[in-house]
Amino acid sequence: KILILDFGSQYTQLIARRVRETNVYCELHPWDMTAEEIRAFNPSGIILSGGPNSVYEEETPKAPQVVFELGVPVFGICYGMQTMAAQLGGKVESGKVREFGYAEIRAQGHSKLFDGIQDKTNAQGHGLLDVWMSHGDKVTALPPGFSVIASNEATPFAAMADESRRFYAVQFHPEVTHTHQGKAILARFVHDICGCAKDWNMPDYIAEAVEKIRAQVGSEEVILGLSGGVDSSVAAALIHRAIGDQLTCVFVDNGLLRLNEGAQVMETFANHLHMKVIHVDASGEFMKHLAGVTDPEQKRKIIGREFVEVFQRESAKLKQAKWLAQGTIYPDVIESAGSKTKKAHTIKSHHNVGGLPESMHLKLLEPLRELFKDEVRELGIALGLPADMIYRHPFPGPGLGVRILGEVKHEYAELLRRADAIFIEELRNTRDASGKTWYELTSQAFTVFLPVKSVGVMGDGRTYEWVVSLRAVQTQDFMTAHWAHLPYELLGKVSNRIINEVRGINRVVYDISGKPPATIEWE
Ligand code: XMP
Repeated sequence: KILILDFGSQYTQLIARRVRETNVYCELHPWDMTAEEIRAFNPSGIILSGGPNSVYEEETPKAPQVVFELGVPVFGICYGMQTMAAQLGGKVESGKVREFGYAEIRAQGHSKLFDGIQDKTNAQGHGLLDVWMSHGDKVTALPPGFSVIASNEATPFAAMADESRRFYAVQFHPEVTHTHQGKAILARFVHDICGCAKDWNMPDYIAEAVEKIRAQVGSEEVILGLSGGVDSSVAAALIHRAIGDQLTCVFVDNGLLRLNEGAQVMETFANHLHMKVIHVDASGEFMKHLAGVTDPEQKRKIIGREFVEVFQRESAKLKQAKWLAQGTIYPDVIESAGSKTKKAHTIKSHHNVGGLPESMHLKLLEPLRELFKDEVRELGIALGLPADMIYRHPFPGPGLGVRILGEVKHEYAELLRRADAIFIEELRNTRDASGKTWYELTSQAFTVFLPVKSVGVMGDGRTYEWVVSLRAVQTQDFMTAHWAHLPYELLGKVSNRIINEVRGINRVVYDISGKPPATIEWE
């Protein structure tokens, strides 16, 4: 297995995902992991990530010395290369200009890292690679024992190696897809240089996870809060595969779910997968507590608190339960290098179904803790969950509670559910020129209920009814997002259908705000 030390680059998680795509297990840890922890991890190779610092500033992050003393291969990327160079006796200087974007570099000499990997060859027979650069500083003198293995004009030391110690480093980013051969280079490092076997794959993972769950749980009973989202669904299916009816799922209908969502969850889990699922209709209770509340953060708190209440009450009925299962995934548990220094400012308190209190006295079972989202999806498909559920857009924990602006009422939720179902249906049914549906082409799409009435005309009559807004965004990480340029025909059809089919709504608008400055949800 590979250890990745994180120096705070925005791309660090991508390195881990690329390594895992080569069927090798890896973990991400902050750069200041202790020597003891590193030895205990017993890596076959170590990757040093990029990061925002300059090695010549005071107090900059450094790789623990043990990294260079274990006798395992080390691969430095960007800042990882710079700190490797500085720590091993080379020199790093601030570049006059930042190099950002595509660059072509030329491989030179022979190196185990690049041999046979190239985009094309020049007249002299040197391999040329298209790579993605993003750096200000660069290495200007190699440490003893190293030689240059790739360069170009802007970056004479674009890559370096000490083959005898198996230390390699590149100034560019092999983990981003803009570096065409990036995955081949990472695969070369982990397979050929570190000698890792390709033993990280889904069928083996399922078999191992099943064994592990059985060993952990024994004959005890487990409860799980099923939301219908990807993570809790996959966790439920995996645990059920391991321990069958020792698992009971609790599905809480808070009255803020999408159209037919409860029925679909029961159909998939209870009827199709034959799992024990308790369907709790708590919508009345949620609505009662939300009555009169208009502040978004207040609404989130109430919905979160109510969920815990209902879940605890239901689980108290399961006297045998000793375990609480949760769909925590790897990005939720990674302690990032960045989070140590700055604490992100709370814009919205993202209540997640996760935060159940310790007072429940249950042991935690989190079988997805090692997996990235795309691996969770792959696992879900392998476990036989429907693709529609696995590739569904994210849905916030507070559900329609934050999509009904201001006070939440049952009547509003009913209208919104129907309008939203029409929008999603049309997105799923309309394709662009490439043949993809607009549902696939957008990252998140939904309808927002605006508690304002406007005047309309229908037939001979005047109407005075509610307004909804459609929202559809495209994003990689949900931190920034563009509004989707949906075709006018599609928007027109959705608008017509909603106004004709959902009595009570007479106006549909489209939200054309990006994030920032707007957020994806309206509350
Ligand atoms: P914003 O609105 O902050 O949304 O741009 C970014 C992503 O987070 C989701 N979101 C939430 N998810 N509980 C959740 O579980 C919440 O309270 C919450 N608020 C926003 C939002 O749907 C989007 O995917």
